[in-house]
Amino acid sequence: MLRIGMLTSGGDCQALNATMRAVYKSVRHNSKEPVEFYGFEDGYKGLMHGNYHKLTSDDFVRILTVGGTILGTSRVPFKNIRKPDENGNDKVELMKDTYERLALDGLVVLGGNGSLKTANLLSQEGLNVIGLPKTIDNDLWGTDMTFGFQSAVDIATRAIDEIHTTASSHGRVFIIEIMGHKTGWLPLNAGIAGGADIILLPEIPYSMDKIVEVIEKKKTDNTGRFMIIAVAEGAISQEDAKLSKKEYRKQLENYVFPSVSYKLAAEIEERTGREVRVTVPGHTQRGGAPDAYDRVFSSRLGSSAGKMIVDGDYGYMVAYKNREIVKVPLAEIAGKLKLVQPDSEIIQQAKMLGISFGD
Ligand code: F6P
Repeated sequence: MLRIGMLTSGGDCQALNATMRAVYKSVRHNSKEPVEFYGFEDGYKGLMHGNYHKLTSDDFVRILTVGGTILGTSRVPFKNIRKPDENGNDKVELMKDTYERLALDGLVVLGGNGSLKTANLLSQEGLNVIGLPKTIDNDLWGTDMTFGFQSAVDIATRAIDEIHTTASSHGRVFIIEIMGHKTGWLPLNAGIAGGADIILLPEIPYSMDKIVEVIEKKKTDNTGRFMIIAVAEGAISQEDAKLSKKEYRKQLENYVFPSVSYKLAAEIEERTGREVRVTVPGHTQRGGAPDAYDRVFSSRLGSSAGKMIVDGDYGYMVAYKNREIVKVPLAEIAGKLKLVQPDSEIIQQAKMLGISFGD
């Protein structure tokens, strides 16, 4: 009997269910011995507290197209993982106990940076772990792409698309704030796809003078009287980049909603006299069905994870490199962020198109 545990951890995204379905199907179709799957509820919380249920074929019917996660998720407990819980228990030991009590042969973790760091820790503690690269942010080291990312790019792009007509009718400057946490993959791709004039990323601190210059120039060069600015939620000005984290948070609190977009809007209005509006698509970017790309991609990732389970090959994250599905040691990726490189080809190409990064 092969006994496999599965959990989804961190912020949800599209294609979590599609990926789990693929793992389940490929193991069931290829294992020579009978298989039992256990789904832990709400991420690592379920593993710590022994909250799980057996997964059967019924659980995987009609979920290829359904967003979210049938297992639930949580952001617990990557922060302070080595600190005892409220009852004084060691969290890692609690997880190991559940794994051993269920006599699992392997654990599949669908997660982003924090979750896979914990997966690596469990792997170093002797558990058989396989990671799958989940996040709309696409910021995981060791893989060119994460599942969820392309679906989120589609949604963020549609949000920008829909702003064009109203921005144009009113001749306004529009700021669309796009998720991505500390990295700019999502705003960069949605910004290009949505025809943004300016894209602001955490990796390229912006100059307010430059932004004002681009806005003024567009007014006079007959390229339209409106302006679309795609702003990463983690974007930062060159001056603010010099502040401590605490000082930065403090000055953001002066704005309607403590986000960089509202600060930027106030500054643009003050310096240009233009009407500025802010749109925040927020968690819609993580919601709804996976797009066709993500359905295929997550099916491939899950299928490869299934093969690794059947072969007893653990300690890796399934990744995508140079258009191939490969495996990367969890130890190699744990705790590393994949950032947009300011001198990368895509940034240079976007600049050639006249897109400004405010630098
Ligand atoms: O990591 C995915 C993500 O959506 C980020 O882009 C965003 O910063 C964060 O999660 C939001 O987290 P929460 O859903 O916990 O507010």
